[in-house]
Order: sequence, then structure tokens, then C-alpha cells
Amino acid sequence: MSQASEPKKGPVLVLLGGTGDLARRMLLPSLFHLEADGLLPDGLRIYGVARDGQSPDTYRTNVRAALELREKTIEEDAWKRFIARVDYFSGDVTKPEGAKALADAIGGHSELYIYFSVSPSIYPKACESLAGAGLIRENTRLVLEKPIGRDLESSKALNCAVAKVATEEQIFRIDHYLGKETVQNLIALRFANIAFEPLWTNHTIDHVQITVAETEGVGDRWPYYNEYGALRDMLQNHMIQLLCLVAMEPPADLDPDSVRAEKVKVLKALRPMSRATVSQEVVLGQYTSGVSDGKSVTGYLDEVGKPTDTETFIALRCFIDNWRWAGTPFFLRTGKRLPERRTQIVIQFKPLPHSIFSNSANADMVANRLVIDLQPQEDISLVLMNQRPGLAQEGMRLQPMPLSLSLAKAYSGHGGRRRIAYERLLLDVFRGDRTLFVHRNEVEEAWAWVDGVAEAWQQAGLKPKNYAAGTSGPAGVHALIERSGHQWHD
Ligand code: NDP
Ligand code: BG6
Repeated sequence: MSQASEPKKGPVLVLLGGTGDLARRMLLPSLFHLEADGLLPDGLRIYGVARDGQSPDTYRTNVRAALELREKTIEEDAWKRFIARVDYFSGDVTKPEGAKALADAIGGHSELYIYFSVSPSIYPKACESLAGAGLIRENTRLVLEKPIGRDLESSKALNCAVAKVATEEQIFRIDHYLGKETVQNLIALRFANIAFEPLWTNHTIDHVQITVAETEGVGDRWPYYNEYGALRDMLQNHMIQLLCLVAMEPPADLDPDSVRAEKVKVLKALRPMSRATVSQEVVLGQYTSGVSDGKSVTGYLDEVGKPTDTETFIALRCFIDNWRWAGTPFFLRTGKRLPERRTQIVIQFKPLPHSIFSNSANADMVANRLVIDLQPQEDISLVLMNQRPGLAQEGMRLQPMPLSLSLAKAYSGHGGRRRIAYERLLLDVFRGDRTLFVHRNEVEEAWAWVDGVAEAWQQAGLKPKNYAAGTSGPAGVHALIERSGHQWHD
């Protein structure tokens, strides 16, 4: 006699776009790591969703292949537990019948997490169909990938479409930079230490540099990238989030609303750019062919196959017009096909108001600098002046020395593996903690400022200048910072 199957229950994660690039490279490996660490919710079932009609068994084989691509070894016990949770559903979630069939496949459940790892252009229709199929209820959380729009108007339209089916508390907008350990360390550095707070102002800080340099080109992603460019792909989200964490006032607590309120104040205080100032404040670039990581690579125009003014590099100087930061420039730069991969924040302190040392000692003097390396290596170092040991005719000599936290070394005993940023974020989705997620107000304020920058450069007729792949950006990038009497920290 066949036994009636147990009714399905427990939490469910629906991974829309479960066969896509992001799911294969980041999300499924992150979920697997959470499994290995015993951090997935009890009884969680995971449904990969796409439209290609593959069988659940083929999907499971593909998940294994995706893991093997990035893992040195796969812990087989964890794999068995993990894959037992994984299923696949083939269907179009923008269609009511597709969403209904998905709801039938999932059956009964407690919490439902729907991760939108699909193009944002389908969010509105997918939300409508999923809600129509009864899949968006009070116990549902929606995880949205960037980009949330291409400008303020489209961002508002997207946010409104999602808000029709879910409250802001149910929405988790991902900016994966907020899941990086060192970015969270920035919060700890600023708000778990009293030492920096009195110095964290325009009185002592000369300027701030934020660099996100990549060696990769745009490659197959050009259809998406060509619509967005460096300003909208990187600066509007990841870099502005870093800027907010550096510049915001201490929040009263780590409650998502408290943190968001402080970030929004920074965004509102960002000085708008105008047609008159933009050519002094912004440098745009586009890579041509060159040598990257020792290999000859093609230029952006060859990848796209048609003329385009999309920027693959942007550097800009901006100001935050409030008491803490008035007059302190923030220099932001990001680009593809640069000489090295590096994400770094530099807090450059002011020079001494007066030196008591001799001329020869003064010759070695540099102003203090706090360097926060996010990737590839994770490190926080404070450059301090030190007495150089030994005797010299001229008397006391000085030298700059880094006081370094060397995070990789300090935590080498903690598993030794660098976490994927998405692990932290997925765990927080399951825990319902929205502190590291982006509120609608932040997205829209960021777009409002970014729209102003793009509009100003269009009015001024600014075009990207060429730079050869493997070089550090177009002509003008050094002049941008030198005009203020500074230099890039390279
Ligand atoms: P891909 O194009 O690689 O994958 C898209 C996925 O969505 C595929 O699995 C596709 O499968 C599925 N899909 C498309 N339409 C539907 C539909 N109507 N119903 C069900 N499934 C559908 O995109 P990415 O993985 O690169 O990106 C996904 C999201 O993540 C995007 O929002 C992107 O901007 C964002 N993102 C991606 C990053 C990355 O590194 N890839 C980085 C940061 C953000 P099928 O066509 O078979 O249906
Ligand atoms: C994504 C951008 O959001 O971030 C990509 O769309 C970029 O263009 C990527 O390459 C960089 O992320 P990371 O974590 O590799 O610095």
C-alpha cells in the first residue's frame, strides 16, 4: 500500500533566475557555505526557477558543477544535506499561469523568501503574478538585486510596483558591498572605537579617496553595461554606499531605520553638480585595446560592436555640504580594465599645523593616513610618523610607518576562507535583519544626485576619453585631484 506523502511545510527559498550567472557564481555557493556552517534555517527548501525546461536532476548536477568551479574541495556531508533541499521549477514567473504552477509546486510552507536574481525589468510583472498566485503574503520576504532603475524616474516606478505587493519591511534590496566583511569593519572602526570620532571631521581630515578598480573588462555583459556605464553600475550604488558609511553621523543604534536615516542625510547633503562645474569635477573614460593581466585584450567598442559613449571609467570630486564635511573633498574613481583589482578607502589627514622638527626630519614628514583595503587583501592601516632608529649627523630622522590590522593574518585561525559577501546577506534575509540592506529612500536619493551628475555632463557635452586597457585611466584623472593639491594614493 503506497503511503500518502507528507504535506510540505517549513521555510522555502525561491531563487528566481536560479540558472543565471549570479546564482551559479555567488548565490548557490553562498547557500552551500551556510549549509556547511549549519546556518540555513531548519527544513529550508530551495527552488531554482528559470524557463529552460531542465529536469530537477539536471539542475542538481548543474549546481554541483557550479560549486566545483569555485571550491577547492566540497565537503560531501554538507553537499548531501544541501542538495537534498534543492529542487527546480521551470516556468515564466511573469505570467499568472507560471506563478500559479510555482505556487502549486511549492505547496504548503511557513516563511517564503523570493530572491529576484533576474533582470529588474521583469520585477513588476513577476511581483504582480506572484502576488496573484498567493505567494506574496505577510510571511514573504522579497530580495531585490541591483540595479533598482536606471534613473530616479525608473527607480520610483520599480519601487512603486514592488510596494503594491509588499511593505518596505518585507523588501531586502541587495548591495553586495554591504555584505563584505571589511565594509562591516568600517562600521566597527568608526562606531566601536572612540579614538577616531573626534578626528573624523573637516578640521583634521584633508580629503577622502574611494577607489574601486577592476582588471576585468565588460565582456559578454555589454548589453546590460552599455545601458548603464560606470556611473550607474558602480558609483550610484556600491561607491555611494561606501561614501555614506564613511561620512554619516553615528546612528543611535544599528536599527535599519536609524542607519538609513543617517545615510539619507549624507545623500541629501551631496552638492549637486552643474553644467558650469562638471568638466572640472568629473573625468570619464572608455578603455581601448591593451594588455591586462599580461594578456592582450580588446577594447570596449570591439566588445559592443558599435559606436557608443558609455563610460567604463569615472572619477569625480564631490562635496558634502554639512558641518562635519564642509570644504573636505571626496574623490571617487572606478573603472574596468585598470592595472590592478583594488577597492580602497583612504582617509587623508591634514598636515601638522606646525613642526617642531629639523628641516631634514621634516623632509621625511607625511601627513597621517588611514587606509582601508577592502579587496583583494583586507587590511586597515594607519600611517603614523615614527623616529627612524640609529644615529645620523643631522640628528633625529623620521619615517612613516603603517600600524596595520592585517585582518587576514589576525583571523587566519577562523576557517581561513574568505566569505562571499552574499553569505552574510542571505543569512540576514533569513534572520529578518535589514541593517545591511538598502532602503527605498536611499536608492531614490542616490539616483536624484546621480541623475544631476549625468544631466550636467550631457549639457556640458562631456564625452569619455580613451585609455588603453591595463593603464590607470584617461588623461585628466590626475589633474582632477592635483587641482585640489592632492594625489591619488596608488
Ligand atoms: P543572467 O542573465 O545570467 O540570468 C538571468 C536568469 O533569469 C536566468 O536564470 C534566466 O533563465 C532567468 N529568467 C529570465 N526571465 C525569467 C522569467 N520570466 N521567469 C523565470 N526565470 C527567468 O543574469 P545575472 O545572473 O547576471 O543577473 C541576475 C540579476 O542580478 C540582475 O538583476 C543583475 O543586474 C543582478 N546582478 C548580477 C551580477 C552578476 O555578477 N551577474 C552582479 C550584481 C547584480 P531563463 O532565461 O532560462 O528563464
Ligand atoms: C557589480 C557590477 O554590481 O559589482 C559589476 O555590476 C562589478 O560590473 C561588480 O564588476 C564588482 O563586484 P566585486 O565584489 O567583484 O567588487
